[in-house]
Formats: sequence, structure tokens, C-alpha cells
Amino acid sequence: MVRQKRINLILLILLSLALSIPAAEAAGLTEAGKRVYKKYCVGCHGEKGDGKGRGTALLVVKPRDFTTGIYKFKSTPGDSLPTDEDLMRTLVRGLPGTSMPSYRLLSEVERQSVIAYIKTFSARWQTESPASTVTIPSVPGYLNTPDSIEKGRAIYGGKGGCSVCHGDRGDGKGPLWSSLKDTWGEPVRPANLRWAMFRAGNSPQELFRTLKAGVAGTPMPGFGGVLTDEEIWHLVSYILSLKGGR
Ligand code: HEC
Ligand code: HEC
Repeated sequence: MVRQKRINLILLILLSLALSIPAAEAAGLTEAGKRVYKKYCVGCHGEKGDGKGRGTALLVVKPRDFTTGIYKFKSTPGDSLPTDEDLMRTLVRGLPGTSMPSYRLLSEVERQSVIAYIKTFSARWQTESPASTVTIPSVPGYLNTPDSIEKGRAIYGGKGGCSVCHGDRGDGKGPLWSSLKDTWGEPVRPANLRWAMFRAGNSPQELFRTLKAGVAGTPMPGFGGVLTDEEIWHLVSYILSLKGGR
């Protein structure tokens, strides 16, 4: 009887050890991430992750405030949390046109650890999971054809309502150009579509994803519920045709 109890106790201890290993590993990753953060990120994103690092006063596009859990460049719709893949893409590539550098030179584990660490700044990561990512169909044969570009142009100025923000010429200077604010109360400018250096990626499929999911935290809406996949592809054709002017 006593012996059985002891065996049960040992089993219980073994079980709890086994369960605590993933938790300990996660804690180790977050600790490592904190070191990476203090070394590379704190100057812009701040000690508390609120985007108020020492070097931010002069920056036009402010560093992300991680405490809200709102991210702009991601494959999930609306204000949903991003996927790890989305965060990884931002770290590897950086965000062109802003001060956010590429961290291609860090190791994969360093990037994973700093991602685990920035999640500690918002409690949303404990209670929510990222929504399902938007589906991106394979690139259709009509992409970039003159017919598709023309259809895209019509949607851009019409049903899509893009020109009010991005301007008739796609230069980002539509009527609402100077009045837009982001979720954090900072001025935000519509992207110059002729420049063709997009923060969420420049490939047709990445542009499709951006148009479908939107840019959370900014007035740039997601068009998933408004436009059909085909209409979105025509817009992609049109945007790609703007590259370098015309
Ligand atoms: C020189 C300043 C600077 C440094 C250093 C910096 N960032 Fe950023 N970061 C920015 C700015 C500015 C933005 C916002 C860009 C925007 O809104 O388009 C940003 C945005 C982000 C985003 C949000 C992307 C999204 O989808 O909203 C993540 C994640 C991020 N940074 C992670 C990091 C990590 C991790 C480090 C350190 C390894 C780091 N940053 C270092 C300036 C910086
Ligand atoms: C209410 C204003 C508004 C409307 C309408 C709007 N956008 Fe935007 N768009 C923005 C703003 C603001 C940004 C910049 C977000 C940022 O980078 O912070 C943006 C960014 C973008 C980007 C670049 C994203 C990136 O990866 O850097 C593309 C592409 C884009 N918009 C295309 C479109 C198209 C096509 C339409 C119409 C179907 C459209 N937008 C409608 C305001 C708008």
C-alpha cells in the first residue's frame, strides 16, 4: 500500500516534469528574446514595447507600439493578431520606406526568440489566437493583360474607391491624403503605388493578400468582403502597371 503510494507520487512528479518542459523552453526563448530586443530593438520600440524608444521623436513613421497587439502587415484580416510567419517576414525584410531595418543577419533562433518576447508586451497573446489567414488563389492567366489592367483601373476609380486616398494617378495624393490618422493618433499617408515598394511585399500574391486583408491600424481597409477575388486580381494588374510611372 505504502509502496504503491510512493510509486504514484514518483509518477506524478515525472508527469509534472514532462509537462513543465515545454513551458520552461518557452520561458528560455522569451529570455533570449529579451536580450536580442535590448540589443537591437529597444532604441526604437522602447523599454515597454510602446514604440517610445529614445530615437523616435524625429521619425516620420513611428515605430510600432506592441502593447495594442495591432499589426499592419499580415495575412490575417481586420485587427486579428498576426501569424508568426507574418512577424518573421517583417523581421527578415524590414519595412521599406520606414526606419524599420531588415534583421536578415540575425539567426533564425534569434528572430524566433525576439518574436516570442515582443508578444509579452500585449495580453492579447494570452487570450487570443490569430484568425485564419486570407486565402490566396493561384495567379490567374489574365494577370497583367491589357484587359485586366483596364478593368483594374475602372475598379480603382469606381467600386474600390482607391483614388480618394491613393489619388487618380496612384501617387498617394488623393483628396484624403493629408487628413488620415492611424489607430495610434499619428498622421498616416496612403502608399505611393507608383513607387512599387510595398511593406507587405511586392509580388502579385502579396499584393492580393494586402488588398484582401487590409492594413490594420490604418484607414486602409481590407476588401475581402467588398470585392471578388477576380476584381482584386484586376486591381493587382493595375497596380503593377503603375510601376515607374505611365
Ligand atoms: C530604427 C528604428 C527601428 C528599430 C531599431 C527596430 N524597428 Fe521595428 N519598426 C520601426 C518602425 C518605424 C516601424 C513601423 C513601420 C510602419 O508602420 O510602417 C516598425 C515596425 C515593427 C513591427 C510591426 C510590423 C507590422 O506588421 O505592423 C515589428 C514586428 C517590428 N518593428 C519588430 C522589430 C524588432 C523585433 C526589432 C529588433 C530586432 C525592431 N523592430 C527594430 C522601427 C524600428
Ligand atoms: C481610406 C483611405 C484608403 C483607401 C480607400 C485605400 N487605401 Fe490603400 N492605403 C491607405 C493608407 C493610409 C496606406 C498606408 C498604410 C501604411 O503603410 O501605414 C495604404 C496602403 C496601401 C498599399 C501598400 C501596402 C504595403 O504593403 O505597403 C497598397 C498596395 C494599397 N494601399 C492599395 C489600395 C487599393 C488598390 C485600394 C482600393 C481597392 C486602396 N488601397 C484603398 C489608405 C487607403
